[in-house]
Amino acid sequence: MPVRSVIIGTGAKLPSQVLTNKDLERMVDTSDEWIRTRTGIHQRYIAGEGETNSYLAAEASKEALEMAGIRARDLDLIIVGTMSPDMPMPSVACLVQRELGAEKAGAFDLSATCSGFLYGLSIADKFIKDNQRLKILVVGSEVLSRRVNWKDRGTCVLFGDGAGAAVVAGEKGDRGILSTHLHADGTLWELLTIKALGTAVPLTPEVLEKGWQYIQMQGRDVFRHAVRALEAVAWEALEANGFTGEDVDLLISHQANMRILEHMRERLGLSREKVFINIHKYGNTSAASIPIALDEANRSGILTPGMNLLMVAFGGGFTWGSVAMRW
Ligand code: UT7
Repeated sequence: MPVRSVIIGTGAKLPSQVLTNKDLERMVDTSDEWIRTRTGIHQRYIAGEGETNSYLAAEASKEALEMAGIRARDLDLIIVGTMSPDMPMPSVACLVQRELGAEKAGAFDLSATCSGFLYGLSIADKFIKDNQRLKILVVGSEVLSRRVNWKDRGTCVLFGDGAGAAVVAGEKGDRGILSTHLHADGTLWELLTIKALGTAVPLTPEVLEKGWQYIQMQGRDVFRHAVRALEAVAWEALEANGFTGEDVDLLISHQANMRILEHMRERLGLSREKVFINIHKYGNTSAASIPIALDEANRSGILTPGMNLLMVAFGGGFTWGSVAMRW
């Protein structure tokens, strides 16, 4: 019997405030109708005071630990995928480690934008293959509302805040992670970027005037690349496991645009109930989107033992990847 990495607990945390499309109509030149038809988004959650990235991440993690039935001090490693940490140093992962009291866990953040959770899961899988006794917490957590320009209708209507988490452990048997595939293309970085706030570009009045402290996206170009990459990585995962589209019981894709999800569904030949969708409630929460969806699918009973689950993500960098698993 092979040792596989199994998800033994999931959790999610959304901030308390909801921002609807109608609210946005009062803020920028947009309409509920445009946002719904072009993206599928109806509302998104926005972090209020005290609802920091590390707070959301820790709350999601507590839920995941509770479901897993293990104590924080049993964790060996904490990986947080994020592009909107509380601060450059320390990492969100270290703040989560402190909040949970995960005394013996190593902790680090991982920068792979919307693919962060799947990159993290892939790393956890490698650690567990090396030592099946490890317990690893993988989190995707974002406060993107602090990274968007609320005057730019091309981006501010898209993103939301939230966190999702999963506890991964080793188990002998058929269930667990079957394959992971990671990809990147740094040559296209300028299509989706926050140019300032790092160390390369000083925050001068000119830079702030250009809005380089915010997410800048060439939406149509990103859309084109996302559709192509997500489809390709899905087929790559299926082929690696000797699967066809018919073998997929549930697809959980990064929730960036309803039209991308629909395209994936058609190309893989999946029926509607096999594609998990929650973009209407949360918008694009980057690294948090897949673990939030995973937790919803898990708690609602949509995910049942023995199902073949395919997860795919795409984001700035560009980064993209897949994790296929038997639930
Ligand atoms: O998470 C990482 C991956 N991200 C993605 O995969 C996102 C990919 N991109 C997208 O989802 C879509 O490209 C968007 C939702 C961002 C934009 O949709 P689109 O259908 O590609 O619109 P567009 O950018 O081609 O713009 C079409 C029109 C433009 O007006 P004109 O030039 O045709 O007069 C825009 O100015 O829609 C206009 N527009 C808006 N109108 C109302 C753009 N944003 C808005 C808005 N409200 N919020």
